[in-house]
Amino acid sequence: MTNREGFAVQARRPAMYVLGALLMLSASGAALAGPKNGVIGVISGGNPELGKTDAKTMCIVCHGADGISPVKGFPDLAGQWPQYLLKELHDFASKKRDDPLAKGTMIDAVKTIHGNKEMEDLVAFFGSLAPPKPKPVPTDAKEKALWSAGKAIYYGGVRATDVPACEACHSATGAGIPPEFPRLAGQDKTYLVEQLTYFHDGTRANDPNGIMRDVAGRLDKQEILALATFIPTLSGGNPTTQLPHPSDTDSGD
Ligand code: HEC
Ligand code: HEC
Repeated sequence: MTNREGFAVQARRPAMYVLGALLMLSASGAALAGPKNGVIGVISGGNPELGKTDAKTMCIVCHGADGISPVKGFPDLAGQWPQYLLKELHDFASKKRDDPLAKGTMIDAVKTIHGNKEMEDLVAFFGSLAPPKPKPVPTDAKEKALWSAGKAIYYGGVRATDVPACEACHSATGAGIPPEFPRLAGQDKTYLVEQLTYFHDGTRANDPNGIMRDVAGRLDKQEILALATFIPTLSGGNPTTQLPHPSDTDSGD
């Protein structure tokens, strides 16, 4: 269904990422109908109402009743693609995802979930919630410079080090491309720094074919910070590969 296998060989050819993502887009056309109540391609069998009840006792202390985490550095789950959330829960359960932050949080929390059905209810619930609102573009000069640098990488990659444009897989608006490319728009800045650093170090190693380890492995600390400053300000509208602000002189190239 996807051409994930292609990623490893294409790793040094950023333009090919775009092509790969586009192929994938056409392959999953049905899932691109656009969010309805924030949900695309709900997992069959997932019941958001039951998930809400389960989440109350097991998840919201860390992820918030509205799926917006009250804890800095913990991810917002609201409006995230349910299929991606489900994959991550399986990865925590099998310890395929056991980065330093997961240890002592999700590795334990996932044990409280009773079976697949309950897992599907939980992800259907979090996926149905209104996604996080875009954060304001920073006004402070130093932060704004970081933001601009992050924006340039998001839409244009880094030619010298063969970093591909994030847009190719996470969409121009940061909405992601379901089922496998997660939404990033509005996500917590500290969480983004952590995850990109974990992929960079290889301590988060549950990405298909090491794709994010390859991407983040090419980023330095400053670039990671720049991306984490820009990404939370993305609008997160419908998945699209078109630049959201064609007239914006600030954009990538
Ligand atoms: C003790 C706090 C805590 C509890 C309780 C908790 N989580 Fe988490 N959750 C986290 C942290 C921290 C992370 C980031 C882990 C990492 O860095 O790998 C996370 C990550 C996740 C992710 C991956 C998100 C992403 O964007 O990749 C999912 C899905 C998730 N949690 C679902 C749940 C569900 C469902 C429950 C309830 C059964 C739950 N969590 C309970 C703290 C918690
Ligand atoms: C070729 C496709 C591809 C490209 C290009 C790409 N990503 Fe990803 N990204 C993925 C996939 C697939 C995942 C999900 C990994 C998993 O299954 O856990 C992901 C996950 C992530 C996550 C973790 C999300 C979460 O909720 O935990 C972050 C952060 C991220 N990407 C940032 C970026 C940034 C920044 C760039 C550009 C420098 C980028 N990605 C480029 C495919 C891509």
